[in-house]
Amino acid sequence: MAKILVTGGLGFIGSHTVVELQNKGFEVVIIDDLSNSSEDILDRIDAITGIMPIFEKLDLKDKTKVQGFFKAHQDLQGVIHFAASKAVGESVEKPLLYYENNINTLVYVLQELQQLKTANFIFSSSCTVYGQADELPITENAPIKKAESPYGNTKQIGEEIIQDTCYITENLNAIALRYFNPIGAHESVKIGELPLGVPQNLVPFITQTAIGIREQLSVFGDDYPTSDGTCIRDYIHVVDLAKAHVIALQRLIEGKNTSNYETFNVGTGTGSTVLEVIKSFEKMSGQKLNYKITDRRAGDVISAYANTSKANNELGWKAELTLDDGMASAWKWEQEVRSK
Ligand code: WQD
Repeated sequence: MAKILVTGGLGFIGSHTVVELQNKGFEVVIIDDLSNSSEDILDRIDAITGIMPIFEKLDLKDKTKVQGFFKAHQDLQGVIHFAASKAVGESVEKPLLYYENNINTLVYVLQELQQLKTANFIFSSSCTVYGQADELPITENAPIKKAESPYGNTKQIGEEIIQDTCYITENLNAIALRYFNPIGAHESVKIGELPLGVPQNLVPFITQTAIGIREQLSVFGDDYPTSDGTCIRDYIHVVDLAKAHVIALQRLIEGKNTSNYETFNVGTGTGSTVLEVIKSFEKMSGQKLNYKITDRRAGDVISAYANTSKANNELGWKAELTLDDGMASAWKWEQEVRSK
C-alpha cells in the first residue's frame, strides 16, 4: 500500500484529504505542529474510515527534525503539503512569521524529496496568486499578479521554488493545486472547519452568526460592479477539493503528468456573490441571517471564479457538490461543534 505524507493533515482541508486518501487505500502519515488544529481530529478520521493515521507532532521549521523524519520514512510514495499559515490579515501584520513558516518549511521538505529515488509532490496553492484577473473565468495561464498580501506572496514564491526545483530535479514531479474558496464539512459531521478566534472567512462567520456566537455578519461592500453589488467568489466543497488532491497524486504516481511541474485550478467554475451565499444559507438552514452592509474590505478582489476545463479534461476531476451542499454541511457542522 503506497505511503503518503500529509503535512498539516489535521487541518481543515488536510483532514478531509486524509479521509479521501484512506478511502482509496493509501497509508497516511500526518505531520502537524498543532498550531491551528488538535490531535482529537485523529480519532475523528479513524471514526470515519476505521483507520487511524500515523501521526507525528513536528514543527517543519526545524530542519533537523524534517531530515530525521524523512530518514525514518524512505518508503514514501508522495507528499501532500498543506502545512502553512493562511490568514490573509494576520500575514499583513506578521509578514516574517509567514515567510518563515510558509517558505522555510517548503524548502526543507523539498530538500528531502530531492534525495528520494522518485518524489511526487502536491502543493496547496491558491487562486490568490491571480489577484484580480483581467479575464473571467480564470484559466491557469492567467498572469500572476503582484500579491495583495504576504500570505498570497508565499503561495506565489512557493510555486516558483517548486518550479525551479523540478526544473533541475529529474526525479521530482509536482502539481500545484490553486484552490478557490473551500467551504463545507464532511457528511459524517465529524470533521470540518474550526477557525481559531474571529473567523476571517465568510462561511464560518455566517454559521457562527446563525448559531449566536457572532452578533451580526458584516457584508464588506455592496457597491462593486456585480449583479447585486457584492463580491463574487468560487465556493468549492472541501470534499470535492480533497478528492482533487488524491486524483492529482494518482496522476503523478501513475506517471500520467505531461511535465514535472503542473498547475490546476480547483473550483466549481461557478461564481457566487456574497448575497447569493447568504441566500443559499437561509434556504438550507431555514433561518434568516442577521447581516448588514458595511464598507469594502481592503485587498478584496471584485470577482474570482475558475475556468475548470484543464482540471476536468486533463486531471479528470470535476466538482460534484454545489454551493447549497456546502452551506448545508457547514451549518450541520457548526451545530454539531456547538452541541458539545
Ligand atoms: C469571501 C467574500 C469578502 C467575510 C481568502 C484567501 C484565500 C483563501 C480563502 C486561504 C469576500 C466577503 C468575508 C465577512 C464578507 N484562504 N466577506 N464578510 O478573501 O475570497 O479568500 O480566504 O487559503 O487564499 O484570499 O475569502 O471568505 O475572506 O471572503 O463580506 O465577514 O466574502 O469581502 O468578498 P477570500 P473570504
